[in-house]
Amino acid sequence: MILSIESSCDDSAISITQIATKKLLFHKKISQELEHSVYGGVVPELAARLHAEALPKILEKCEPYFKDLKAVAVTSSPGLAVTLIEGVTLAKAVSVALDIPLIGVNHLIGHIYSLFIEKEAIFPLTVLLVSGGHTQVMEVKSLNEITTVAKSMDDSFGESFDKVAKMMGLGYPGGPAIQALAQEGDRKRYNFTVPLLRTPKFAFSYSGLKNAVRLAVEKAEPTDYKDIAASFEHIATKHLTHKLKKYFQNHPPKNFAIVGGASANLYLRVQIKELLQPYKANLFLSDLQYCSDNAAMIGRVAIDMYKKKRFTSLEDLDIASKSNL
Ligand code: KG4
Ligand code: ZN
Repeated sequence: MILSIESSCDDSAISITQIATKKLLFHKKISQELEHSVYGGVVPELAARLHAEALPKILEKCEPYFKDLKAVAVTSSPGLAVTLIEGVTLAKAVSVALDIPLIGVNHLIGHIYSLFIEKEAIFPLTVLLVSGGHTQVMEVKSLNEITTVAKSMDDSFGESFDKVAKMMGLGYPGGPAIQALAQEGDRKRYNFTVPLLRTPKFAFSYSGLKNAVRLAVEKAEPTDYKDIAASFEHIATKHLTHKLKKYFQNHPPKNFAIVGGASANLYLRVQIKELLQPYKANLFLSDLQYCSDNAAMIGRVAIDMYKKKRFTSLEDLDIASKSNL
């Protein structure tokens, strides 16, 4: 079995996965959403302190599995440096205490593998990752062959939902709140501009849209918020489908996946489904419970890394706030 730890942002999570069967034997997550909500976003130092309390509490529950552990895996990048270090320090302690190897996992690969929890992996795959920290498109041939073909130049898709929600006083995280409000609103009422419409570059940008929404919110009454949320969600999604449509002209998709916390967005799921129809491409989505950060996805990557003996020594396992993908 492998014990996996996730602490890259505001979720403290630990899982136990069986190597041979990929079965998830234990998974627990303590989310800090409530604590950060009053600030309208994640406060790194507060997050670190909460991880320091929560992770040992969850680890205690894993004691019955200790004798069967073959490795300990942990998210080592990307993420908030002060929170990554909490998970990595605990993983190192487990590695020393139980004399088992360490596996450092990239959080973005974790999100890709959230598709394969308790399942076989499917490659090749074109992946749209939409989370609070990232918006990027990757061509994934295997665990070792991942090419990023487009990224956000500024804010991420999920982050733009968080910021719009903050403007409307809806707390954190903003995605679910904006989605709920948008369902009651008119998507066509506010004519926000689709970002990078005339730029041929395959890239994303959400800061301009965020500022346009800010101006609209400042002029609006709270009764208009549902229409702003709906129009914002529509354009934020259209930006993704517009860029993907262009990319598909030369790279027709066969297996396409949406992963990351914001892949739970229902409007996005419907629009991507429609976009894929002419190509008869398969759409892969994670179970809703595994879209947002969790340790099960880290454990699932770790199984494939374990089989390839991709271990990192105690001295060499370091954190990195930026991803190399
Ligand atoms: O993957 P995740 O849990 O953390 C990061 O790795 O960043 O993603 C969290 C992000 C937040 O920005 C949250 O607002 C967004 O995912 N999110 C959503 C929805 N549910 C969560 N965004 C849009 N619509 C949703 N339904
Ligand atoms: Zn994430």
